[in-house]
Amino acid sequence: MAKPARRYVCQDCGATHAKWSGQCDACGAWNSVIEEQVLPTLPGKSLKNNSMKGTIELMPLSGPLDWSPRNMTEIEEFDRVLGGGLVPGSAVLIGGDPGIGKSTILLQVITKLSRTLECVYITGEEALDQVRTRGKRLGVDESSTLIASATNVRDIISCLDVASGPTVAVIDSIQTMYVDTLSSSPGTVSQVRAAAQELIRVAKNRGIALLLVGHVTKEGTIAGPRVLEHMVDTVLYFEGERGHQFRILRSVKNRYGPTDEIGVFEMTQTGLSEVKNPSELFLGDRINNIAGTCVFGGMEGTRPLLIEIQALVAPSPFGTPRRAVIGWDAGRLAMVAAVLEARCNISFSGKDIFLNVAGGLKVSEPGADLAVATAILSALYNIPAPDNCVIFGEIGLSAEVRAISHTDARIKEAAKLGFKSAFIPRQKSGFNKINDIAGINYQEIYDLSMLVQIFNEQKSSTALI
Ligand code: TYD
Ligand code: MG
Repeated sequence: MAKPARRYVCQDCGATHAKWSGQCDACGAWNSVIEEQVLPTLPGKSLKNNSMKGTIELMPLSGPLDWSPRNMTEIEEFDRVLGGGLVPGSAVLIGGDPGIGKSTILLQVITKLSRTLECVYITGEEALDQVRTRGKRLGVDESSTLIASATNVRDIISCLDVASGPTVAVIDSIQTMYVDTLSSSPGTVSQVRAAAQELIRVAKNRGIALLLVGHVTKEGTIAGPRVLEHMVDTVLYFEGERGHQFRILRSVKNRYGPTDEIGVFEMTQTGLSEVKNPSELFLGDRINNIAGTCVFGGMEGTRPLLIEIQALVAPSPFGTPRRAVIGWDAGRLAMVAAVLEARCNISFSGKDIFLNVAGGLKVSEPGADLAVATAILSALYNIPAPDNCVIFGEIGLSAEVRAISHTDARIKEAAKLGFKSAFIPRQKSGFNKINDIAGINYQEIYDLSMLVQIFNEQKSSTALI
């Protein structure tokens, strides 16, 4: 009998080596290379078949479209993140920390879809009774969704790859699935890659919308090779703080819609419920007239979102003062503090700076710079930032405030929530018109020294604007 081929695969990057080594040549990771056996023959119809070689048909680019309509889940937040519903034949990967609610949201989504489509939910993590109990809790136990507990990809494919097969399939999770032609254990790079490849191939052939759950590593990326993210059409991350009830579904890759779109949900006793106006939720606990806080007019994908930024500047007991950030980039905080020191003669020496994005949100926009600077100055001077004022703008290294996109959307959202004024970057002519509609009294901030000036003037008076 032929000796099974051996190969050595890095569990971090998926690179294959001829020999074992302590460090992966491709990505430099230590102790990540493990030995795997590849069985010489790959039986079964689900596996690669070369008999079709040379039979592809070349088609004109200008040919007719053969798209079936998208399937709407009726969970608006989910549909929007997908770019307007689930595309038949597409593969969607949903990653997130354990216990964040991936299984819950997918059970809710699939039971909604099963009203009109044939849907299956295949779990490799839970027993059928556990899924049924969850279904009861969510109030969806009357649904016509079919469930199965399986981990062998060959078995799963035999139920999906049939003429009267399902239209939507959930695989919870891809790390528990295994292909029996590989000797490595489920969850290893080779298994995850092979299982996903087989399932996606069948989904594309049969027009099945495939929803894959992916575990995340402690670094926060989906476990398995990066190639998994390339293989699927859409990658969604389900995020949230354990201490908070709300969850954010974020699209990071989408072949059929915009990225950076978010859907906001709240975890309740009966599953995840949609949050239609997230700004209200995130500003719900805000106390006005407190030094060190202000409201940032942010954008998440196509939706404006008002977020409270909080800062604390306190004398440092240490030789090297601390710069601690939660929910924003520590490098950008250091930059804003350095610009204030170097360009505006504000000294933070001997002072700790703490910055927090309220509600456990993570902000990645550079447009939050001006709001961060305002919160820091407000904390330093112990003067509240203007009441009912929304702030946004990017800060450059020479302290100039740069314009950012979607000014009108941000201001309209602020007006909707009763904000009266705004600190914004310098606008091109023609902006006033939009602004008059929103009815907000805005102040253009050209550079940081203007902001410092506002706080300095405020030292002697009571109201800022
Ligand atoms: P789950 O969907 O199992 O998480 P994942 O699949 O991402 O690991 O979510 C489990 C958590 O959600 C668990 O801590 C309990 C909580 N939960 C609720 O608060 N309400 C509910 O209705 C459900 C079903 C779960
Ligand atoms: Mg789960």
